[in-house]
This record gives sequence, structure tokens and C-alpha cells, in this order.
Amino acid sequence: AMDPVKLMKQQVGKAAADRVKSGSIVGLGTGSTTAFAIQFLGDRIKSGELTDIKGVPTSFQASVLAKQYGIPLTTLDEVERIHIGIDGADEVDPAKNLIKGGGAAHTREKVVDSLAEEFIVVVDQSKIVDALGSTFPVPVEVLPMAIAPVMRALEKLGGKTDLRMGVNKDGPVITDQGNMVIDTKFESIANPPELEAILNNIPGVLENGIFVNVTDLVLIGEIKDGQPIVR
Ligand code: A5P
Repeated sequence: AMDPVKLMKQQVGKAAADRVKSGSIVGLGTGSTTAFAIQFLGDRIKSGELTDIKGVPTSFQASVLAKQYGIPLTTLDEVERIHIGIDGADEVDPAKNLIKGGGAAHTREKVVDSLAEEFIVVVDQSKIVDALGSTFPVPVEVLPMAIAPVMRALEKLGGKTDLRMGVNKDGPVITDQGNMVIDTKFESIANPPELEAILNNIPGVLENGIFVNVTDLVLIGEIKDGQPIVR
């Protein structure tokens, strides 16, 4: 039997892919849940059910998956609009604010997701929180030469900082842009838009993982009576 979290992610990824219409430019998110959406989108293109689709990837990894599943790609230099965007999240609050960047992709994700005319978040139920920051630190992408002053500034704001280290790699995680990520845990985030702006105002910070006023729809994968459902 497939593990229930994987089943929820698969189900919710399919539900998002089913919302895409022919002729659309689609923002392709990053992470294990969106990977299923990319796979199902590719299936619909292969079967001929969907035509004239172009994807705008939010990361190197998203572009690898898009190529693997047969989704033609484009860039923001070529297209002016993104009709629909699909992406995962690490936390979702009741106002549909997000923490993203668990995969260190939040900088490009914010560019692409914010442009989408309809932005859909795909998550399993474990990502739903009462208030942002309850479980997850805020990922902050930083220029490597500014790591020390940015860490001090983040600590001054009450954050507990951790330079994100690689898995199966010695040393820090390097983003698609060649920068590093400081995971910053705040006790609580009372005002997400305010903290988002304050963090981005620190010199050397490229982008942080708080997403406010971007999400149109949240699809939540759940297990009910042993069956995966989408809410
Ligand atoms: C990538 O940096 C993140 O924003 C992902 O979208 C987020 O971590 C969700 O990933 P999963 O779907 O794998 O949980």
C-alpha cells in the first residue's frame, strides 16, 4: 500500500492538474506535491486532452520534471501572462497566507506565483496551521557575502537563525541563483505582511518565504475513512 501522505499529495496534485484548460500558460511550482500535478498535466497533454500548454518553471527541478513529463516550457521574457499557477507550501494559514521555501525555491516561486491570474496551492492536511510560523521557520535567501550581517539583523528581530546545510553535500545549500538560505524561526508571526516587508528590507536579503495576498485557492488532500479526498 502507498503511504497515506503520498496518496494525499497525489490526489491533490491531480485535482490541480484537472483545472488547467487548453491554451493556458501554467506556473509550475516546486516540491513533492506539485511534482504530481506536473506529472498529471503531462498525462493530459500526452493523451491529447489538453493542447497548446506552456509551463513557466519556478526552479531548475520544476523544469527537469516538466521536460520528463512532456510539458513545453517558456520564460517570462516570452510571455506576458500566466493564466494558472500551481505550487505547494510548507504552511497555510486561514487567510491563505503561506510559508514557502522548504525546497529553497521561494524566490523564483514568488515571481511566478504572484503573476498567476489564478494561483492554486496544493497541500496535504499537515500544512494547515492556525497562524504562520507555528511549526516552520521562514526561509530567507541571502547573498553569501552578507550572511553575517543579515543573521545579526534577523536575530535582532527575534528570529533564531540556522544557515541551511545540504543533505548529501558538505556545506550550505546553494539556491538556483547561487545564494544561501537562512532558516529563521520566529516565536509567532502576528502580522505576516509586515514581517515579509521588514525581512526584504534587510540589505543582502533577496526574498523571504512569507507569501501574502497571492493565493486564490487552496486544495487540501485528506484521508477520510481510509480514502484520499480533496477539500
Ligand atoms: C519549495 O521551495 C517550497 O516552497 C515547496 O513548494 C514546499 O516546500 C512544498 O513542498 P512539498 O509539496 O514537497 O511539501
